[in-house]
Amino acid sequence: MNIQWYPGHMSKAKRMMLDDIKLIDVIIEILDARVPVSSKNPDIDNFAKNKSRVIILNKCDLADKNVTNEWKEYYTSKGYFVALVNSKSGAGVNSITGVIKEACKEKIERDRKRGIINRPVRAMIVGIPNVGKSTFINSYAKKACTKTGNRPGVTKGKQWIKLRSDVELLDTPGILWPKFEDQETGIRLALIGSINDEILNIEELAIILIKKLLSMYPDKVNEIFNITDENTYEDKEPIDYLYQFANNRGCIAKGAKPDLQKAARLLLDDYRNGKFGGITLDRPENQAD
Ligand code: G4P
Repeated sequence: MNIQWYPGHMSKAKRMMLDDIKLIDVIIEILDARVPVSSKNPDIDNFAKNKSRVIILNKCDLADKNVTNEWKEYYTSKGYFVALVNSKSGAGVNSITGVIKEACKEKIERDRKRGIINRPVRAMIVGIPNVGKSTFINSYAKKACTKTGNRPGVTKGKQWIKLRSDVELLDTPGILWPKFEDQETGIRLALIGSINDEILNIEELAIILIKKLLSMYPDKVNEIFNITDENTYEDKEPIDYLYQFANNRGCIAKGAKPDLQKAARLLLDDYRNGKFGGITLDRPENQAD
């Protein structure tokens, strides 16, 4: 499968983000906890020089808890301040202000020494499409205080969400573009549903998911595909699991044939909605550094 991404329409978003970055002290990068590397755009590291860095591992409810904790350790060891969040339910959102302040501790101390007291820390959310930027901002804003108005001359046209007296969050996120350094990144983003399914071969994608489940989560496979001693046999191929899934879910096409297309869609939907429990596709142990 050859997944392409056309960054043309991203250039305006990028310009806006670069302008906004000039206004802020800390960058809060939202990653999808199921694919923390595939959903990270490494270019941000160049744009974010001299800024404090926070990583939010969002959609923790859909990810493998143990692996999420490993990712937290991994990014902490790289100097990021990391928070685990489910923006949909709001779990973990309360911890963010503390994490932001921790990330900006040195800056706050520097300001204090220069006699600058009570200047709020300014933060901005960035992330590739679909990682949950808007959901997070809504959830955070609800828990936090009111929005502040425009500040003529200083942050013209910008809306800030005031969090306590000392942290302000820019209410429009910076949209990053997925970075397809290899096909595998594109495939993982497709699996979690971050790429328009219309450009993908759904059946092929479902087979890729089955292969990943077999190699990464073999303990879950029997339950997902309802495999019992009676209906199993040796040397099952990935496609056989899709046939089985079609059978289980009553996906029948004309001529009483299994409807693999429908089964593939249901399988992907179930995975994306967390019906198989927490499943993480990127692993810290596979990182080069
Ligand atoms: P974006 O601004 O980064 O593009 O992402 P957005 O907030 O629009 O979120 C993309 C999808 O991810 C939404 O689902 C949203 O509900 C879901 N989402 C965001 N955070 C979480 C989370 O922590 N856990 C879970 N399970 N889902 C999350 P959608 O299907 O597009 O919309 P909806 O059906 O929820 O309305």
